[in-house]
Amino acid sequence: MSPDARKIVLSGMRPTGPLHLGNLVGALRNWLRLQDVYQCYYTIVGWHALSSEYMNTKVIKDNEFQVAVDWLSIGLDPAKCVIFRQSEVKEHAELHLILSMITPLPWLERVPTFKEMQQEIQDKDLNTYGFLGYPVLQAADIVIYKADFVPVGEDQAAHLELTREIIRRFNRTIGPIFPEPQTLFTDVPRLAGTDGRKMSKSFGNAIYLKDAPEVIRQKILPMVTDTRRMRRTDPGEPNDCPVFTLHRAFVPQAKRDEIAHGCRTAGIGCRECKQVVIDSLIAELGPYRERRAEFEKNPRLIWDILEDGNAKARRAAQATMDEVRAALGF
Ligand code: TRP
Ligand code: SF4
Repeated sequence: MSPDARKIVLSGMRPTGPLHLGNLVGALRNWLRLQDVYQCYYTIVGWHALSSEYMNTKVIKDNEFQVAVDWLSIGLDPAKCVIFRQSEVKEHAELHLILSMITPLPWLERVPTFKEMQQEIQDKDLNTYGFLGYPVLQAADIVIYKADFVPVGEDQAAHLELTREIIRRFNRTIGPIFPEPQTLFTDVPRLAGTDGRKMSKSFGNAIYLKDAPEVIRQKILPMVTDTRRMRRTDPGEPNDCPVFTLHRAFVPQAKRDEIAHGCRTAGIGCRECKQVVIDSLIAELGPYRERRAEFEKNPRLIWDILEDGNAKARRAAQATMDEVRAALGF
């Protein structure tokens, strides 16, 4: 198969700062597999960050840099996939504008994340035109590359459904240009943070990819375990233990089964059990740490890789926009 005959994948992340284990398990591991199979576009969506960070815009560029370092260090390979900054490919904005003309307001008002985010986030005014249009910009990100597949978590289901609705309407009313993208749902295993709640940057309970081995140790050792294990001799239940969510993601099956048995029979202590997952994590992140150290010596390299990605993305986006403008009769 020629490279151009490969199906197209697009996904994006908002630049909110360094990435954590939840991002690795919930997205990046999947993205790594996909880059070997499809023509993948991975974008850092600075304009989406702007929709909620417009009072604090100065941090966005640095966060974009952090995300790029994490992506490249974890193994996304610019020789295999296109890694780029959304805000450097202005065609996204042009297509967003055009799509906004054909998107009925009620479609946007009933997107669940729109009201949820407004209620959840009290310290920011998210009742803006741009925030309402967030999913329209996301649709533009996707279809400007004529993506076949979009790997995302379940939380993005409504946005992808809306993308398809907008695109059907475009194809019907303006011209049949865009394929309908399919969602590739990543089945995201629950990963507990250091306080037992879901791992999330905003809860302050995350273990970051860039955490040093010693930091990883210091974060995991004090974690609460199955509360039935008051003493070393009390048996426990791994399915009720937040630490074991890390085992599921990072410890190979055979070892994990052995540990689960040890927990249920009080054959293994929590400290020893935690040490197993700490060792697995540190080992898995070893190559990441080496690459990260290289990139940190040479930040210029990161910006060069991004610029190269921006240029590749721009070429594809411009070709699509030529078709769009022709379909409009412009
Ligand atoms: N809305 C996505 C999120 O919050 C980020 C995103 C923006 C995205 N554009 C995209 C994801 C295009 C997939 C495809 O995670
Ligand atoms: Fe959790 Fe492991 Fe302790 Fe069992 S032994 S409660 S799985 S930390």
